[in-house]
Amino acid sequence: MRGRTPRWRWIVAGGGALLAIAALGAALAWTAIFDSVLASQLALSPGSRSYRDWVAPSMPLYFEVYLYNWTNAENFPLEKPNLVQLGPYRFREYRRHVNITWHPHNGSVSYRNLKSWHFDPTSNGTLQDNITTLNVIAASAVYRSRFWGFFQQKGLSMGLAMFGQHISVSKLARELLFEGYEDSLLELAKSLPPSTTGGAPPIDRFGWFYERNNSLDNDGYLEVTTGQVRGTLPGQIVRWNHEDHLPFYEGECAKLSGSAGEFMSRSLDEDSQLEMFIPELCRTVAMDYEESGEHAGLMYHKYGISRSSFDNSSVSSNNACFCNGACAWGGVMNVSACRFGSPSFLSLPHFLHGDPELRDMVTGMEPDPEKHSFYFAVEPRLGVPLDVAARFQLNIYLEPNPNVALYENVPRMLFPVFWVQQRVLIDETVAVELAMVRSILDWGATVCAGAALAFATVAALATCFPKKKHKVDLAAEKLKEDELKLNPM
Ligand SMILES: *[C@@H]1O[C@H](CO)[C@@H](O)[C@H](O)[C@H]1NC(C)=O
Ligand SMILES: *[C@@H]1O[C@H](CO)[C@@H](O)[C@H](O)[C@H]1NC(C)=O
Ligand SMILES: *[C@@H]1O[C@H](CO)[C@@H](O)[C@H](O)[C@H]1NC(C)=O
Ligand SMILES: *[C@@H]1O[C@H](CO)[C@@H](O)[C@H](O)[C@H]1NC(C)=O
Ligand SMILES: *[C@@H]1O[C@H](CO)[C@@H](O)[C@H](O)[C@H]1NC(C)=O
Ligand SMILES: *[C@@H]1O[C@H](CO)[C@@H](O)[C@H](O)[C@H]1NC(C)=O
Ligand SMILES: *[C@@H]1O[C@H](CO)[C@@H](O)[C@H](O)[C@H]1NC(C)=O
Repeated sequence: MRGRTPRWRWIVAGGGALLAIAALGAALAWTAIFDSVLASQLALSPGSRSYRDWVAPSMPLYFEVYLYNWTNAENFPLEKPNLVQLGPYRFREYRRHVNITWHPHNGSVSYRNLKSWHFDPTSNGTLQDNITTLNVIAASAVYRSRFWGFFQQKGLSMGLAMFGQHISVSKLARELLFEGYEDSLLELAKSLPPSTTGGAPPIDRFGWFYERNNSLDNDGYLEVTTGQVRGTLPGQIVRWNHEDHLPFYEGECAKLSGSAGEFMSRSLDEDSQLEMFIPELCRTVAMDYEESGEHAGLMYHKYGISRSSFDNSSVSSNNACFCNGACAWGGVMNVSACRFGSPSFLSLPHFLHGDPELRDMVTGMEPDPEKHSFYFAVEPRLGVPLDVAARFQLNIYLEPNPNVALYENVPRMLFPVFWVQQRVLIDETVAVELAMVRSILDWGATVCAGAALAFATVAALATCFPKKKHKVDLAAEKLKEDELKLNPM
């Protein structure tokens, strides 16, 4: 019996060797294994964990609006408009994806965004604030008339005077935002053929977010990837309003791509750009790497709208096809085509990164990258956004029109009306969870390598030193005897 290796040793040795090989394999292929597990966890499918948070984000969201009060409207255009920022008017936002339809054969899912807003009393100001701003209804009417003949323009000029239209209006914050206000020009527009209103549906009230509350039409009909197809990311836009391109622009600019906001690439580095489809802008924006840092114990790369993301051809020729006409000023985006031909231009708040000429035409613009930039700070290996600041300013384009008395002497300019901000910071518990996932990624290979070493040692011990174990057994028995002698019970 003594000379033979017992069977159990062979089993231990064989098992140890197999486990060692498996652990070594896992150590070497760790990143690939991790990525494929993560990809399967993140993929959107009915009932998956990422699906639940995608349908209705559990994080509290806030939508904040800053309105500019025009304090010297009566002296326009002799004096530059003086704009005093009011707000934030803060709204708690509830957001849900609805009308979800799965398209398994092309790996996509389509939905609409349903959003509702509730005024938050922590706002700096109330909805009863009386605010003076540009008369946007008149400005749009004049803008739309720019290609009309002389007599039609004169007719509009008389109409504006008859209906008592001024260059500015004074309204309450709630009317300017969600509630809307009535206006005689809107009544008139209802009786005009749609061609004169740029195809805009007739409305009975005007407010910046009028009829947006609980509406399914805020962001349109979106179709995104589910990430179930190997090697694809979830949440990347494939169609918008049933189209696979943007109807407003030509060439490269018509391309529809990028993240719809929830899922980002999982291999972001300093040279990458972050592509985001932004429905408000009706386009995809490529954000540039800005800096790296740490938030809630997690590393991030920050990508932001830079001077070139929005700029005209003089800085970035890629953007020329977005101008839709003369590339007027740098750092602004002509969104007229996707707003029924209204003279709307979007920029960063306070014309941050914009042409200095824009700031010069008004007083009160104080751009500050801390407060006014647009960025996504993303954990680069997991592709999870940790800190997001989405900010836009809406501006109305004005230009002189010699045939319309009200607009005879206005300068050619962009008139800032309001800006909005949405800040989302990852919450503590999610951050802790992510930090754990990240350390599994970072240490998994090391742990597997350690395990491989341990199993290999066990296997080696079991095969190479069969007798040592026996001696140890004898020694242990001797020890027990000694103990008994020391402690006679
Ligand atoms: C806005 O400006 C007007 C004119 O200067 C002023 O009367 C009004 O009180 C201001 N509104 C707020 C809410 O400060
Ligand atoms: C609140 O609004 C006033 C102007 O109406 C402004 O002076 C003040 O800085 C604002 N406070 C905050 C915390 O934003
Ligand atoms: C879309 O969702 C809304 C809200 O959940 C619902 O009222 C509506 O009937 C849905 N429409 C379709 C076509 O499913
Ligand atoms: C995916 O399939 C649906 C039909 O189930 C179709 O309507 C949709 O256009 C397809 N999307 C793409 C990108 O092919
Ligand atoms: C939006 O609609 C909800 C009801 O669904 C209402 O309680 C809320 O006050 C509305 N928000 C605004 C800003 O009007
Ligand atoms: C707002 O203020 C203007 C004057 O600045 C005034 O004519 C108007 O009646 C006020 N609106 C309300 C609803 O108080
Ligand atoms: C903005 O775009 C519209 C159409 O997309 C175009 O007609 C208009 O001329 C552009 N405005 C300016 C100021 O370039």
